[in-house]
Amino acid sequence: MSSAPFPPGKRIVFTGGSGVAGRHVIDKLLSYGHEILNVDITPLDNPNVYTLKADLTDGAQAFNSLSCHFRVSEPFMEPVKTPDAVVHFAGIPQPMRLPDNETFRINTMGSYNIIESACKLGIKKIILASSLTTYGVTYAEGDINYPHFPITEDTPTEPMDVYATSKICMERIAGSFAKRFKGVDIYCLRISAVIEPENHAEKFNAYLTRPGDFKVHAWSYTDARDLGNMVQCCLEKDGLGFQVFNAVNDEITVPEEEGSSEEWLGRACPHTKITRRMGVRESPVSNEKMRGLLGFREKFGWRRVMGRVEV
Ligand SMILES: NC(=O)c1ccc[n+]([C@@H]2O[C@H](COP(=O)([O-])OP(=O)(O)OC[C@H]3O[C@@H](n4cnc5c(N)ncnc54)[C@H](O)[C@@H]3O)[C@@H](O)[C@H]2O)c1
Repeated sequence: MSSAPFPPGKRIVFTGGSGVAGRHVIDKLLSYGHEILNVDITPLDNPNVYTLKADLTDGAQAFNSLSCHFRVSEPFMEPVKTPDAVVHFAGIPQPMRLPDNETFRINTMGSYNIIESACKLGIKKIILASSLTTYGVTYAEGDINYPHFPITEDTPTEPMDVYATSKICMERIAGSFAKRFKGVDIYCLRISAVIEPENHAEKFNAYLTRPGDFKVHAWSYTDARDLGNMVQCCLEKDGLGFQVFNAVNDEITVPEEEGSSEEWLGRACPHTKITRRMGVRESPVSNEKMRGLLGFREKFGWRRVMGRVEV
């Protein structure tokens, strides 16, 4: 006899699920028993998930994507149900893939259309992929400093580039809709560089052999599988209204021989203030808020994955 998943799975529309981050997050969400519709301009090769091809910069396509069946059938036996949540990852994840105005248009209009449609359709949980680049250093013109360490959600976000600016716009749009639509939770995840399991070794080889190169990531990262767990935490926790979370793993990406986080940051960024005592290996981007408010606990910390600490 099969038993229902506990807690019961939710019905989730996932946008951008065919991409680098989305495919891993979808795998994780399926493992928690959720039912998922992927909305993307390209299909996802996962037999358990139907992809509706849609361009979300078109408001009508976004609206329809959030108010349709979860897969095709002949006939449709059940009426369309309002999804429990939308997770919005679709967009352009970097400047210079497209001309700047296209990156801006796709990211802001796609986000606007999804947020507006979700609010107006009565979807109560909206989770948005924002970015660490909003802190302004990653795609700055030249080498600039973070205002302080650790970086928290209250650290100023004043980027120069179009990609991070489009993410700030998305967050502001989200905040304004959350004010207008009471009872809707909108959680923005400021994700760092996403590390997929298949290129974990290669990425960490670079982090560990050339730590000086990764100020641009603030020596932080986001394991793709833990990103799935972060999204699951967002799905489980209701009632927080509009929130921004640093969505990063717990530890700094420099090798142990470089000393503590404070020692490394003191050498690498001697002019940047450290505002509080940091844990020995604490990430320069704090995930304290996500751990505290959402109960996130990492499972794929890099030193555990690489066998440097006991499981
Ligand atoms: N990968 C990272 O390191 C990283 C870091 C921080 C934030 N993010 C954010 O996470 C999200 C996913 O990033 P990714 O690396 O998986 O990017 P990706 O390019 O691999 O995936 C994005 C997906 O969005 C789809 N898409 C693009 N425009 C669309 C449109 N108009 N309508 C529908 N679908 C569209 C693409 O087809 C693609 O499958 C993005 O919002 C990105 O900004 C990624």
